[in-house]
Amino acid sequence: MAADQSPRTMNKQLEALGLAPEAEVRRKYRQLLFTTPGIEEYVTGVILHDGTIRNHTDDNTQFSDVLISKGIIPVIKVDKSTTPHTGFEGEVVTQGLDGLAERLQEYYDMGARAAKWRAVFTIADNTPTEQNILFDCITLARYAQLCQEAGIVPIVEPEVLFSGSHSLERAEEVTTTVLRKLFDIMHWYKVDLEGLILKSSMVLAGSEFAQQTSAADVAQATLRTFKNAVPESVPGIVFLSGGQTPQRATENLDAIAELEAQEKNLPWEIAFSFSRGLEQPVQQAWQGKEENVPYAQEALIERLRLNSMADQGTYEVSMEG
Ligand code: 13P
Repeated sequence: MAADQSPRTMNKQLEALGLAPEAEVRRKYRQLLFTTPGIEEYVTGVILHDGTIRNHTDDNTQFSDVLISKGIIPVIKVDKSTTPHTGFEGEVVTQGLDGLAERLQEYYDMGARAAKWRAVFTIADNTPTEQNILFDCITLARYAQLCQEAGIVPIVEPEVLFSGSHSLERAEEVTTTVLRKLFDIMHWYKVDLEGLILKSSMVLAGSEFAQQTSAADVAQATLRTFKNAVPESVPGIVFLSGGQTPQRATENLDAIAELEAQEKNLPWEIAFSFSRGLEQPVQQAWQGKEENVPYAQEALIERLRLNSMADQGTYEVSMEG
């Protein structure tokens, strides 16, 4: 589960519910998520923002300890978000390498055993540029080196954005190019490919493209991309939900798992690492009200349960409540 929205992003989500964009409301929301009875049945790790790993429940238990007590691994988001790529209109680069070795040591001491870094690629007529891809891939490789040196598993996330008016073919071409470059560079810089997790977008036509991609086509394009670009030594791939509706993200995950089972012997474990795809229904059920916490927690368990079924290829749309 990715619960690592920055304070800014979390505030926007709170404001959309008509709630005050305040630290205490964010804390209450994270408390709701992490204390949900039974999440450990579905969740192996939770990605946290720096402000959240340092935060605690009402009774002063550190959030990381709440997770560890359930057998869930605290994961820390270590990038410091994106900034415009000077000279490259419409593109961004991810920052946060300064002081990263020291921060990783501190997070390790707080219980984190994996870390996440997100790079963002935008598809438009002239993007992503080769320069943008190269810059972010080298940065991801450096982050991965530092994580492995610190005994922390890097979750390497090159997100190709869903927003845009590109076709499925173009999404596949860009994602393949980015992943090939990323693994070439990580290999070149001696990152241990057996000791990382790839966090990927699904391959799908842009959100403004006239024809949205069927789940079967998403599955074909996504697995073909991985076969063409992800080395066999990589143990696992997890998906972000990327602004798809929760139900669509689950349907696509299910189609990918079904195809994976048919193809047999694919080298990677495939799973999900959604934020919005899990949390939207939780926020809707919660509405910032204490009395709604049990309903919000039920909504989280329901979404986790459906995605776990999808991950086995056993989800049906008719299971949606
Ligand atoms: P979404 O599932 O909302 O895309 O978020 C996952 C994530 O970790 C983005 O960095």
